[in-house]
Amino acid sequence: PSKSQMMDESCKLSRADCRAKGGAPGFKVAILGAAGGIGQPLAMLMKMNPLVSVLHLYDVVNAPGVTADISHMDTGAVVRGFLGQAQLENALTGMDLVIIPAGVPRKPGMTRDDLFKINAGIVKTLCEGIAKCCPNAIVNLISNPVNSTVPIAAEVFKKAGTYDPKKLLGVTMLDVVRANTFVAEVLGLDPREVDVPVVGGHAGVTILPLLSQVKPPCHFTQQETEYLTDRIQNGGTEVVEAKAGAGSATLSMAYAAVKFADACLRGLRGDAAVIECAFVASQVTELPYFASKVRLGRSGAEEVFQLGPLNEFERDGLEKAKKELAGSIEKGASFIRK
Ligand code: NAD
Ligand code: LMR
Repeated sequence: PSKSQMMDESCKLSRADCRAKGGAPGFKVAILGAAGGIGQPLAMLMKMNPLVSVLHLYDVVNAPGVTADISHMDTGAVVRGFLGQAQLENALTGMDLVIIPAGVPRKPGMTRDDLFKINAGIVKTLCEGIAKCCPNAIVNLISNPVNSTVPIAAEVFKKAGTYDPKKLLGVTMLDVVRANTFVAEVLGLDPREVDVPVVGGHAGVTILPLLSQVKPPCHFTQQETEYLTDRIQNGGTEVVEAKAGAGSATLSMAYAAVKFADACLRGLRGDAAVIECAFVASQVTELPYFASKVRLGRSGAEEVFQLGPLNEFERDGLEKAKKELAGSIEKGASFIRK
């Protein structure tokens, strides 16, 4: 490049940095695992989100390429890339929201718990970075098994003395997105008109759709209830099998992650009545973590809602969900405690 081209380039960079530093309205968001199957479309969608002023893309591979690509989008957020452990602290410093889709996905025949061996260590390292560099950030944890990675993150934060239960949210939004879609199909409605609470956790029977609380109010036959519950609980496996070894849900997950992150940012901004389902520290059941509707505010999940009235089918489902969840939570917590 000629000298003048290089100067142009450095001017552009410094103006972008000035814009970011000068407090362009919006929040600072980091994506950890940004070069992955979820990370890339998630980065693209977050770059399109007007609530984001700075977007940090961190991965252990290919972060510069994804960053160069995304940074050409003519939207407001300033994008910066960070490659490898040595750049983790710079990636995290000053962030308001950290979204974590880092880790390995399932192949056919695997359970989410089979990912624990690899992903537990990845989540531990990333959360140690968060505790050090942005302890007040909201964390959206996507890496599986969510039922165990959220307790892992909580224990890391407790050890570091930075744990704020309101700020750690396991992302179960994809279960809600799927439930809305499948229920709308059965009812012959537009999915955007449907709201299905999904509680419990994010694996198999721990995914508990509350079909008795669907909005708009409706009635399902026993056969419809069983079909829908099974399809929602196994939506992830449906995608894993269809991808036949090439990974798990990435595009619908990126969509769901952005829907959830946007809700967190609206909460941070102070919007009223921002309510979504998430896997959080909870007193709704006897378990220390549980997914249910939460109200998102300036300090994260400010209110965790009770489950509301359940029918017999849902009460049975709840017992099964709690049994499996208890083991997954303990497995995650003891990974750090031991
Ligand atoms: P992927 O393999 O395509 O991408 C994962 C990315 O993480 C890769 O780019 C990889 O380099 C990166 N990575 C690995 N170790 C890292 C580290 N130490 N620090 C930073 N980045 C690291 O996988 P994917 O399809 O994007 O899925 C990612 C995770 O999300 C999986 O664990 C998957 O099971 C989970 N997932 C969760 C949900 C949910 O609803 N919560 C939905 C879909 C997938
Ligand atoms: C999903 O629900 O799609 C994710 O948890 C990925 C998986 O392994 O099923």
